[in-house]
Amino acid sequence: MKISLTGIKPTGNIHIGNYFGAIKPALALTEKFFGVYFVADLHALNSNPTPKELQQLIYAVAATWIAFGLDTEKAIFFRQSDIHEIPELTSILSAVTPKGLMNRAHAYKAVLDKNAESGRDPDDGVNMGLYTYPILMAADILLYNSDVVPVGMDQRQHVEIARDIAENLNRIYGKTLKLPEGLIAEDVQSIPGIDGRKMSKSYNNTLPVFVPEKELRKQVMRIVTDSTPPEEPKNPETCNLFQIYKFFGTAERVEEVRQLYLNGGLAYGALKQELFENMLKAFQPARERFNYLMENKSEIDQILTQGAEKARELGRPVLARVRKAVGIDK
Ligand code: TRP
Repeated sequence: MKISLTGIKPTGNIHIGNYFGAIKPALALTEKFFGVYFVADLHALNSNPTPKELQQLIYAVAATWIAFGLDTEKAIFFRQSDIHEIPELTSILSAVTPKGLMNRAHAYKAVLDKNAESGRDPDDGVNMGLYTYPILMAADILLYNSDVVPVGMDQRQHVEIARDIAENLNRIYGKTLKLPEGLIAEDVQSIPGIDGRKMSKSYNNTLPVFVPEKELRKQVMRIVTDSTPPEEPKNPETCNLFQIYKFFGTAERVEEVRQLYLNGGLAYGALKQELFENMLKAFQPARERFNYLMENKSEIDQILTQGAEKARELGRPVLARVRKAVGIDK
């Protein structure tokens, strides 16, 4: 069975953009692929979160995947930092990674651009974790002989860099590493935030999945709409509320609502209330399971520990092959 691998960085509250853009497609892949999914906690260190904050985020992201139905018997699910083969492979891969390749990575370049704009030193706020982020990610991907890597658009370049690094090692030492393919979930790129921009934690425009009902309702009511009165016709295609609603209504109801937009008769407030109720219904089982797991963290630990054992079993032979290829085996 081919391997589908993805890492999930423990940051912020999971929102519906994460769910439709990353979690749902990755879960669907576990039907056809052997899923290797992990919490990328080493990657999160680059932003120097407090230990307490990081711990909480690791549990929350792990609980999210389990709550949404990741079958941890069929797939493996673990914490990146439990895999001691990862730093070793990262170190070997560093030796075949041109510095120029890191200079071209988007995340690093974005910081350089920001610094240039504000007249700061080019490397202000850049740590080596950020600079070599793609090498650590390449180790994640290459250690398990991954075939496909489902990621959002923003991670596409990182998967390409992982391929480049694998190709370099293969060119220098002979064919050793499998070249992975990125699988980009393009059709769901378009889920807008409550202000119409791309839904993103950094814009503070998300609809989070696992917050108390009251908070969720408040956020749904904050979805920005224009001030066209109910009786007047409106354009559903340019309406942020409709674009979000589409993910939560049945096909017939979405069509009905579309007609209400076009012909007049739609009140935004009523549609928001309906959206809120649909969201609660859609996420009810996941919300319950999430809350249970966050109250019973030892169950999460147990799943992650078992997953790590399986992941290391999978990765060990690959690392052994790499060590042999480069000449550091015993
Ligand atoms: N960099 C990814 C992100 O920020 C997380 C990640 C770490 C990852 N290692 C990975 C994704 C390996 C895919 C494959 O979202």
